[in-house]
Amino acid sequence: MLDVGRGALNVLCSMKRAIYPGSFDPVTNGHLDVIGRARKLFDEIVVAVASNDEKQPLFSLEERLALLHQALDKIDNVRVAQFDGLLVEFAVAEKASAVIRGLRAVSDFEFEFQMALMNRKLEDSVETIFLMPKEEYTYLSSRLVKEIARLGGNVSDFVPGPVAEALGKKFAR
Ligand code: PNS
Repeated sequence: MLDVGRGALNVLCSMKRAIYPGSFDPVTNGHLDVIGRARKLFDEIVVAVASNDEKQPLFSLEERLALLHQALDKIDNVRVAQFDGLLVEFAVAEKASAVIRGLRAVSDFEFEFQMALMNRKLEDSVETIFLMPKEEYTYLSSRLVKEIARLGGNVSDFVPGPVAEALGKKFAR
């Protein structure tokens, strides 16, 4: 009995968890593609929405969380959470060994490289892992999706249905 308990504890302790942080304003099919890849590499992915975002998001924290919950509803080993403060502190608190970031193009690289190295300097135990989304999502960004929706364009190829709907409501004329 004791052995079984210890075994279960060992499984829990050796669980490989990664944080996938971002603004998710709003979540796009590119984010979902990265989550799909990350969940094959880790036991659990925590999709972590930054709550102290300095970017003046279009969607409130609650809206961004709700849209992520809807998009990830039926997906195993993915949890949605919010965080404020330093990402690496959140990663340590969650006992995560890695931070996942999507890398779409060389233009992403400079900022991502800087952030990864700064996070490593702050907390050496958390590795940053870059994953490339499917080619068809390499030009996709939340910023462009918002711009297209604001100008009345169709965003249904780029975001999950509920996100397209929510964008439609935000920009209803
Ligand atoms: O989707 P985004 O906007 O590219 O995500 C950026 C995010 C939220 C991951 C980044 O701004 C972040 O980690 N913020 C938390 C504060 C922090 O730890 N800053 C130091 C980074 S080196």
